[in-house]
Formats: sequence, structure tokens, C-alpha cells
Amino acid sequence: MPTPIDRNRQTTVADEAQRAVRARGLTRRFGTRAVLDGLDLDVAPGEFVALLGRSGSGKTTLLRALGRLDRISEGHLETPAAVATVFQEPRLLPWKRAWQNIALGLRAPDARRRALDALNEVGLAEHAQAWPATLSGGQAQRVSLARALVRDPKLLLLDEPFGALDALTRMSMHKLVQKLWRTHRPAVLLVTHDVDEAALLADRVLVLSQGRIEHEERIVLPAVRSVDQPEFRALRRRLLTSLGVEVADEAIAVAPARLAPGALR
Ligand SMILES: Nc1ncnc2c1ncn2[C@@H]1O[C@H](COP(=O)(O)OP(=O)(O)OP(=O)(O)O)[C@@H](O)[C@H]1O
Ligand SMILES: [Mg+2]
Repeated sequence: MPTPIDRNRQTTVADEAQRAVRARGLTRRFGTRAVLDGLDLDVAPGEFVALLGRSGSGKTTLLRALGRLDRISEGHLETPAAVATVFQEPRLLPWKRAWQNIALGLRAPDARRRALDALNEVGLAEHAQAWPATLSGGQAQRVSLARALVRDPKLLLLDEPFGALDALTRMSMHKLVQKLWRTHRPAVLLVTHDVDEAALLADRVLVLSQGRIEHEERIVLPAVRSVDQPEFRALRRRLLTSLGVEVADEAIAVAPARLAPGALR
């Protein structure tokens, strides 16, 4: 029997062997407006799911509910006990060194060693003593990924974590996230505005609209994915159509890896 952990007793701890997320009829109202409106969602343990949706469609609201950073108005939600969230901005404490930001709140006696191991995993072993202000945007985001992973989450929530990074740094972050996911196997829910990013990384892509999951694509692509593959282009077209973006065939064939943010806003 799941254990109630929420004041309103609608959020419970999932049976982690069975599922990472189970949401039924999830509703979050602000005033009279239901931003999430009877949403159903299942995420399997270890599954990598990407979430697309127009600006204001409720993606962050959903992640905040899943991360128990916000309450829900109605419905039922099961998530694992260990959930970690990475936001678009790294949110590091400027007066703590890199490793201290990671160790913060860890109760384990070997917190420092674990923080250093996590920094090593994200390729920043040499920056353990660095102050956040001296890190590049990509490095700071690696620290925030390490801070999430050191908690050994069964569900990792990523809210546009690469949105502020340049194209090359994004590509290296994609590789890093894939490597970390393969090593640790948390279920991942990645919010992104980038259709290619979603299709390159995820097992399944969801589109949030009108407060619900309105479109779903299970990714069936060759093991090594590339934006040049015809299957990839067809998938990209379907996802863009479900987002209400009309793109001519020729434009899809030559589209850059990343859509201009304005395209989905
Ligand atoms: N605390 C709040 N109080 C009132 N309204 C809110 C609150 N949080 C979010 N909203 C509203 O809920 C809607 C969805 O917001 P949310 O941040 O979830 O969108 P989003 O899909 O993450 O958008 P973006 O892609 O721009 O990040 C917006 O209209 C927003 O104004
Ligand atoms: Mg958001």
C-alpha cells in the first residue's frame, strides 16, 4: 500500500519496482484556471521521457508537482521517495564551493567523498574547490547535475536544463546526460523546447497541451540517432505538427538542430 506523504493525501510514494510516476486526473488550478486539467501520466522505472509544450502550457507546473515542490488541486499522484530536479539556471549557492553545493543537505558521513565522486562523474574533479561565480554556464550546470545525482534519484526531473547554453555545450551536455542515465538508470522527465533534443535523447516524447498529455510518440529509431535520418525527420514533422508548428518539407530537411525558441513560444 503506498504511503501518504502529502498534506492533502493525494501524493503518495510509488512502488519503485513497478513505476516511477503514476498520475491520474492530476489538476492544478491557479485561481479558477486549471493549468493541469485531469492529466494522466505513467513513467516506467529507468525510462527517459521528454516533455514538449508551448510556453505557458504547464510543463514547469507539472514538474513542480512531480518534485513535490508544489501541491496539486485534485487527482492522484505517485512518485518515488528519491526525486531530484535540475532547473534551467544552476541555482548554486554563491558562498559555497562547488563540492559544498553538492554535499549540501546530504546526511551521509561520507558526504564530501560522495560529492567529489559526483563531480568526477560530470568531468569537474579539478573544480571541486571553485566558487560558483568562477564557473562557466556549462560547468555550473554540470555541478547542478552532480548535485541531483548524488542523491541517487529514482526520478530525475530536468526543466530545460540546457536552454541557456550555447550549441556546442548543449551537445556535450546531451552526451553527459546520456552517460549518466545509462550508469544510474533513473527515470528521467526532460522538459525542452527543442524537438531534436527530445527525439535524440528520449524513449518517448509527450506533448502537453490544454492541461493534458495530448500527443505521445514512442521513439523507434536506429540505435545511433541522427537528425539526418529520414525516420528522424518524419518524427520531427509529427512532433512539430502536434505543437501546431507548420513546417514545409524542405524546411524540415534542412532545419537546424535547434528551433529558435520563439517557434514554440
Ligand atoms: N504560482 C503561480 N500562480 C499563478 N499562476 C501560475 C503560477 N505558476 C504558474 N502559473 C501559470 O501557469 C501557467 C503555466 O506555467 P508554467 O510555468 O507551468 O508553463 P511552462 O509550460 O513551464 O512555460 P515555459 O515554457 O515558458 O517555461 C502560466 O500561465 C503561468 O502564468
Ligand atoms: Mg517552464
